[in-house]
Amino acid sequence: MHLPPEGAPPLIYTWLVFVHIFVTMLAVGLNASYVIWILRGTKDSASLPFALRGVKFIDDYVANPCYLVGGLSGALMIGMGKSVAPFLWVAMGLYVVAMAIAYGVYTPLLSRQIRVLEAKGSGDVEYQRLARRSNQIGVLMGVLVVVILLLKIFEPPLW
Ligand code: HEM
Repeated sequence: MHLPPEGAPPLIYTWLVFVHIFVTMLAVGLNASYVIWILRGTKDSASLPFALRGVKFIDDYVANPCYLVGGLSGALMIGMGKSVAPFLWVAMGLYVVAMAIAYGVYTPLLSRQIRVLEAKGSGDVEYQRLARRSNQIGVLMGVLVVVILLLKIFEPPLW
């Protein structure tokens, strides 16, 4: 049960927790689907541009906005008086790092990968280098989000 902090209107706080968990759940689930799209596209090079453009659309217009709403709803919960335990500070720090990598590295990298794919094809050395790099960055962001989730569920006493 997500007890509302003292003085916070219980129904509003509970809806905020609902929104927070729903949007982060959606974003994490969509992120996980990228692996399937990219693997299927890689197996069939004719559909690879469609698969990568689909991943980019989901990332730009659904997953990342959901993470932003997740951050905002989290900040509002704290604003309503939710105490910030050490695990939550660490989770927020990892969130900032993950969002910086998402907008600062993954988004431009995926754009470039799609451009090179459409200009030179999936056999091109530069395309393959970009594909390897964006897969590595994707795995790193996946690990960060899973660590955030583990911190939220297990609430370990860090310090
Ligand atoms: C990838 C990012 C995030 C994910 C996946 C995530 C996920 C979750 C989940 C699953 C819970 C519920 C945990 C439980 O039932 O005990 C939760 C709770 C919470 N999250 Fe997040 N969160 C994320 C980012 C953030 C950020 C950036 C903040 C703060 C700015 C935040 C603040 C909170 C707070 C305050 C709660 C406690 C709600 C309560 O129990 O009253 N979260 N989060």
